This record gives sequence, structure tokens and C-alpha cells, in this order.
Amino acid sequence: MWLLGIESSCDETGVALVRAEAGQDVPELVAQALYTQAAMHEAYGGVVPELASRDHVRRVLPLIRQVMAQAEQPLSAIDVVAFTRGPGLAGALLVGAGTACALAASLGKPVMGIHHLEGHLLSPFLSADPPTFPFIALLVSGGHTQLMRVDGVGHYELLGETIDDAAGEAFDKSAKLLGLGYPGGPALAKLAATGRADAFALPRPLLHQPNLDFSFAGLKTAVLTQCQKLGADLPAHQADLAASTQAAIVEVLVKKAVKALKQTGLKRLVVAGGVGANQSLRSQLQQACQKLGAQVHYPEPELCTDNGAMIAMAAAMRLGAGVQTADKNYAFDVLPRWPLATVFAQ
Ligand code: KG4
Ligand code: ZN
Repeated sequence: MWLLGIESSCDETGVALVRAEAGQDVPELVAQALYTQAAMHEAYGGVVPELASRDHVRRVLPLIRQVMAQAEQPLSAIDVVAFTRGPGLAGALLVGAGTACALAASLGKPVMGIHHLEGHLLSPFLSADPPTFPFIALLVSGGHTQLMRVDGVGHYELLGETIDDAAGEAFDKSAKLLGLGYPGGPALAKLAATGRADAFALPRPLLHQPNLDFSFAGLKTAVLTQCQKLGADLPAHQADLAASTQAAIVEVLVKKAVKALKQTGLKRLVVAGGVGANQSLRSQLQQACQKLGAQVHYPEPELCTDNGAMIAMAAAMRLGAGVQTADKNYAFDVLPRWPLATVFAQ
């Protein structure tokens, strides 16, 4: 069975083709293509929803053609068209959903609406070293920071989440204060590699609380205060402040993930979402898990950020596990705010 996945929830248009066969452990990623709008939004310091939607319109059909050409398959080979139904920017989601439903209707094939975070959650199954259930998932993206217990496809228990800013938001907002470009996470991480992580003492909120929740809003305020104190001296200390900011975010993520492993007794951690591409987070989680005798799984860095492969993969896995069926209801809708809790085995 061939599944096409279309992702358009934010500023990346992603398309991918996955093949799932009965008896196969994990579906196979056959072809994928991605267009990132980062350069277009950079001038504005963040995603402009209207521009994002219009750009998805320009990119999505050529990307579908590109993926089918890469796979050397005609459009008629597609058995199911999956798309990101939410959460995300309403206009951007509508482009992917509309394209998916129109394509499926023209081919007479069924569609599936997929939760963006479930895509991230299952994306480590695309990696060369896929995990097995059960595991703890650390979901760290631009909009979400959550620790989940994952017992199987569609069986997710929320253990803790951020009460204010997401980890990616903390990276992005701090990067903006430091005068770095958009998206801030990768830019801040690059600069941090040349700075001293212990140069500035920044807060680590909720670190010593017994719960598994996060809070990053205070960090942004602390970075702002430091920037104001440094004033004209900021450029000389920019790398140190970037390194100290990254260290604060990473320490909280690592310690809370370790706490989740200890509390549940599970020995496997899966990291997903854009911040999962951060090398410092990866190496520190690796070390912490080694001490615990636990294994860490990551998707390859390019599959950590938004992409179509994770949407096609989640659709294939949901079908395979029998928790969702594909249907020919082309009267689609999108869900810009959609709690993952409501997606559990439907
Ligand atoms: O998962 P994602 O691509 O989109 C959302 O669903 O939000 O995550 C994007 C977030 C942004 O905040 C971006 O700055 C962050 O992931 N990010 C990083 C890195 N690469 C992307 N943060 C830190 N270090 C990175 N290398
Ligand atoms: Zn995402």
C-alpha cells in the first residue's frame, strides 16, 4: 500500500511517499521533498500566516510531482492520501487539506487527517534505528513541549507539559533578543557552540518540582534583562549568553526526561520535534540515559523538523494498528487547536 503524506501546518511544505506492506515491522519511506519558507519569513522575524498559506499553494503541487517522479510511480499508484489536519495555522492547514482531498477525489482514493504532533511522536520510526513500544516521548517543537508515555500507536498518556512558552519558543524568542535571525533555534545553537555555558546564571524554572511540567517564559525575561544590562557590550558577550541560554533549556529538558524515565521505570526515550535537532540536547540526553541504562532514539535531524514523511508514516502506522480507517469523506475540515489527547485510538 502506498501512502502520500502532505504537511502544511506552519512554514514548511512537506510531501512524502511511504510504502506499508502486511508483515513489515515499520513502513518504508520511499521518497520525500520539502520546501522551507524560512527565508521568506526572516524579514519579519517570524511566520506571517497569510504569506505562509499563499506559499504552500505555490509549492504543494510541484512537490507532489517531484516525490512521485523520485519514486518512479504514477499518481494512480497512491492508495491513501494523508494530510495534517491540525494543530497549526488555519489557512496553511487548509492548503494541505484541500490539496489532499482534491487529489484523492480525482483518484477515487480515501483520505486521512493526521495530528501534527502524532507525526512528530512517531517520526523516530523513520530512523535507521527505530524504537519499540513502550517508550517515553519528549516532544519539543516550536509550539509544544510535552512528555508522554507511549504504549502503542494511539495510546498516549500526557505526563507533563509546558505551562507557558514551548522549548522552541524559548530558543526563538531568546535568539530574537540576541539579534539573531529567524528561525532562532538553529542560529542560537550555532552561536552557542562558540560560547561559555556557565558565563551567565539563568533560571531553570520547575527543575526541582516533583512534577513533569516545564516553564520557559521566565528564561526569556532573564535573557532580556541580561541584554539590557550588557547594552553596547552585548556583541562581545553574545556567544556566552547564547551558550548559557541553551544550557538552561537543555538542562531542564534532560532532567525532566530522566525524571519521567525513573517515575515510569521505562528504559527507552524518544525525542521528537524541531528542538530534537539540537546537538547539545542530543549529547546530554545520550549521556544521562547511558547512566540510567536507558536507550535514546532520535529521528535524523532533518526529520526532527516538520516534514511530510512523518505524516505519511503516522497514517500508515494508524492504519496498520487498526486505530483509524481511511475514508472517502472529502468534505474536509482542519483543527488549528487540537489537543493530542483527543486523538487516542478513535
Ligand atoms: O517541529 P518544528 O519544525 O515545528 C513546529 O511544529 O513547531 O519545530 C520548530 C522549532 C523552532 O522553534 C526552531 O527554532 C526549533 O524547532 N529548532 C531548534 C533547532 N532546530 C530547530 N532549536 C534548537 N536547536 C536546533 N538545532
Ligand atoms: Zn512540528
